[in-house]
Amino acid sequence: MTIERTFSIVKPDAVKRNLIGAIYQRFENAGLNIVAAKMLHLDNAKAQGFYAEHEGKPFFDDLVAFMTSGPVMVQVLEGENAITRYRELMGKTNPEEAACGTIRSDFALSMRHNSVHGSDSPESAAREIAYFFAEDEICPRGE
Ligand code: TYD
Ligand code: MG
Repeated sequence: MTIERTFSIVKPDAVKRNLIGAIYQRFENAGLNIVAAKMLHLDNAKAQGFYAEHEGKPFFDDLVAFMTSGPVMVQVLEGENAITRYRELMGKTNPEEAACGTIRSDFALSMRHNSVHGSDSPESAAREIAYFFAEDEICPRGE
């Protein structure tokens, strides 16, 4: 059993539509425990740095404009194989391709306005968690 941490964002389109609770319920139902969380309004520099791997791609400027358009919730999720299981729970990037019952299939509006972010590897999870949270802001469940 591998207990992992992954990084998650509830994006501006979902916060605007009051979907924080519904999306958090999906995490908890899946056994992905929320061990850190806060609301933020990202500025350009913070959003650009977060998505640095996509810099130069055709969608980059629109992505940053969207991610800075309103508040987001950022959280750390902890659980067994959390990285892969959360990617599966989110569904594919394009909601039209996302499997039925996934968060993006049920809530996303479009490829850009796709409601949630999730880390795609152990390396990105470590980088993304540290980009938003100090270690003492994370509260492991313990027994
Ligand atoms: P990506 O990391 O490929 O997707 P994911 O969020 O599933 O890890 O892309 C980051 C975000 O960029 C994605 O959630 C939505 C946006 N995006 C577009 O707007 N257009 C695109 O063609 C792609 C690939 C992504
Ligand atoms: Mg990605």
